[in-house]
Amino acid sequence: MIVTTAQLFKHAYGKYAVGAYNINNAEQAMGLFKGAIASQAPFIIQISKGARKYTDKRMLEAVIRAAGDIFPEAIYAVHLDHGDEETCYECINSGFFSSVMIDASHDPFEKNIEITKRVVEAAHKKGISVEAELGMLGGVEEDIKVEEGNACLTDPAEAEDFVKRTGCDCLAAAIGTSHGAFKFKGKQSLHFDVLEKIQARLPNFPLVMHGSSSVPQDEVARINAAGGQIAGSMGVDVNEYLPAAKLGVTKINIDTDGRLVWTRVHREFFRDNPKDFDFRPPGKIFIEEYAKFIASRNVLLGSAHQLTDLRASLGK
Ligand code: G3H
Ligand code: 13P
Ligand code: ZN
Repeated sequence: MIVTTAQLFKHAYGKYAVGAYNINNAEQAMGLFKGAIASQAPFIIQISKGARKYTDKRMLEAVIRAAGDIFPEAIYAVHLDHGDEETCYECINSGFFSSVMIDASHDPFEKNIEITKRVVEAAHKKGISVEAELGMLGGVEEDIKVEEGNACLTDPAEAEDFVKRTGCDCLAAAIGTSHGAFKFKGKQSLHFDVLEKIQARLPNFPLVMHGSSSVPQDEVARINAAGGQIAGSMGVDVNEYLPAAKLGVTKINIDTDGRLVWTRVHREFFRDNPKDFDFRPPGKIFIEEYAKFIASRNVLLGSAHQLTDLRASLGK
């Protein structure tokens, strides 16, 4: 059952975070739905502009619709990740997305408000939720590269003003994370101080944490042992997910970790089976491994075993 992110956040706020996982193909969709059902967790499927272009946006939508039929028990939102204004309108009018993200965080504050307001107006007319972003994450975001030094944390006073003036349903706040596998140089923690200040100004308002992959070091070691070269990568401490959720983070975005599962499975498979050239055997392993990964993350986010209670609260 497709629901809006706003419906999911109402149930989760202050208790747990909903995992938002990026999807590009059928194998990821199968693993995601399987893992979500195994852990009895609601979830958010995220589709980036790059994912829409990878095969064809209609292909990806068909894959997700099929997964919804195969797993009728699933409760999830279908969300556009890092949309520009034009793509937001396309998704709002598609009849498929229940949530969009307008990312105008690279524009000046007033322009970000102007653009976000227009998207909120169009989305709310159709009952679709809107995520906006304020502040800048470090790292690489599709076609925009933000050098680490330029990443700046969200200002809590600006966040309050922004939310009140735009009417957005949730806000991606920069609290020290960045996209990709190389987030930190040493041991670093999330900026809980910023979260506390935002929550004090915006009580009960859902926040989103981008760049939340944990970049498991055992996964990295296995990839490197099978020919990879991603030494020095580092992610978010998984033990910080729940404390962040208690401070209002209701959506935690994870993409890179899924790519690492894919890389490990395929590098190891072809290293160990050098004569093989069929994509299905490693594909099958990937689906199972990704499902296990999703279930393990949902436990850490606190979203595992919430499905029955959520369904009751939705009156379904
Ligand atoms: O924020 C970026 C997400 O990880 C999506 O990545 O734009 O390469 O699909 P992508
Ligand atoms: P990661 O690169 O940490 O997985 O972040 C993904 C993300 O924020 C998608 O919007
Ligand atoms: Zn992101």
